[in-house]
Amino acid sequence: MIKITLNNKPVELDVDPQMPLLYALRDELKLTGTKFGCGAGQCGACTVHVNGQAMRSCVTPVSAIAEQAITTIEGLADHNGKLGESAVQVAWREFKVPQCGYCQSGQMMSAAALLQAIPQPTDEQIIEHMQGNICRCGTYKRIKAAIKSAATHSSASSLSASHSATANSADSTLPVSTSPSNLSSSNKGAVEIFDARQLASKKQGAAS
Ligand code: FES
Ligand code: FES
Repeated sequence: MIKITLNNKPVELDVDPQMPLLYALRDELKLTGTKFGCGAGQCGACTVHVNGQAMRSCVTPVSAIAEQAITTIEGLADHNGKLGESAVQVAWREFKVPQCGYCQSGQMMSAAALLQAIPQPTDEQIIEHMQGNICRCGTYKRIKAAIKSAATHSSASSLSASHSATANSADSTLPVSTSPSNLSSSNKGAVEIFDARQLASKKQGAAS
């Protein structure tokens, strides 16, 4: 039996310890907001928070998160605990970020972790942090705008309650880690995709 705190509630998981957290969330606990994309730690669709840090749940075995605090998209809340009203969720609605929406819970979880670590990120920090979250619909510009808006309109305390419980113990200067298996080498393609869009956008702006 593996005990975790999930969205601020104690949960016991009676599953194979090697089961990916993503499967435990979706199949055992019926929290389907966290999505299966690549299943290999390369797209970010399955991003959740473990002790306030973004992690890829598809490559995180349940055994690795015993006794840890997990937050899923269902647990994101404002500083008063109001679910669905975290700064990033408000901004995502304001900027109408999603298209098909499939990647967006992962995008918001990554963005929320970024703002927890760096309340006022620069453009470069946003790009660097979000580079591992792929959006096939190409909503990158709106994602960036929404993150900047969330940073402006809120403090880091408007993230999830379980974040706030763990924020003080987390290294607030660290960029968000992606998975126990470290995605840095596998995300080079994603860096190029995100950067190419940023560059194209800058060129467009300069030409107009
Ligand atoms: S489904 Fe986990 S990173 Fe793609
Ligand atoms: S909104 Fe469709 S994949 Fe991102």
